[in-house]
Amino acid sequence: MIPVIAIDGPAASGKGTLARRIAAHYGLRHLDTGLTYRAVAHALVATGKPLDDEAEAVAAAERLDLSAMDRTVLAAHAVGEAASKVAVMPAVRRALVERQRRFAETPPGAVLDGRDIGTVVCPDATAKLYVTASPEVRAKRRYHEILAGGGVADEAAILADIQKRDARDMGRADSPLRPAIDAHLLDTSDMTIETAFQAARAKIDRAL
Ligand code: C5P
Repeated sequence: MIPVIAIDGPAASGKGTLARRIAAHYGLRHLDTGLTYRAVAHALVATGKPLDDEAEAVAAAERLDLSAMDRTVLAAHAVGEAASKVAVMPAVRRALVERQRRFAETPPGAVLDGRDIGTVVCPDATAKLYVTASPEVRAKRRYHEILAGGGVADEAAILADIQKRDARDMGRADSPLRPAIDAHLLDTSDMTIETAFQAARAKIDRAL
């Protein structure tokens, strides 16, 4: 069986960093599924289409080249906000989930990170992790990331945005963010990246 590691969690929980580390360690491919929603949102904005244009969003999802998503362009805060609006449309989710499943089923196996990987995209994943941290810790991490990149930021505004995005991602009708029943919970509030990686590795080693 092809190994699939599902990693879910809220914005800025550290799941992306952890997913990349895990993929490198086990020699698996990695897909940041948040980038797929970001790419669809960005395609709409770039062509002047409203974010609730479902037909255009589905077309963008079907056209999307998973191997050519521009992480730098898509990382912008506004794109993340737009992505969470696009992500409430069931037809868009269906189109992207199909692409994500195909990625997961391709040898040698994959690590996928997002919001609904363990619950919807790969319910039979080999191992599932739900990575979280308190909203305050996540806001502080994002704030320091922006400063380290030479930018300016307002920590209180970041916290408010994170709370708004959590509410949208957890409250939507289709595939809301929640831990799969069989996911290992990893609260990284008081962990370094290294500690979180070692904790994740212990869970995955047992499942492989
Ligand atoms: O993880 P990231 O911040 O890049 O995700 C952007 C948005 O895409 C999330 O806020 C969420 O609304 C949506 N998303 C999703 N399902 C996924 C991954 C991301 O709904 N599997």
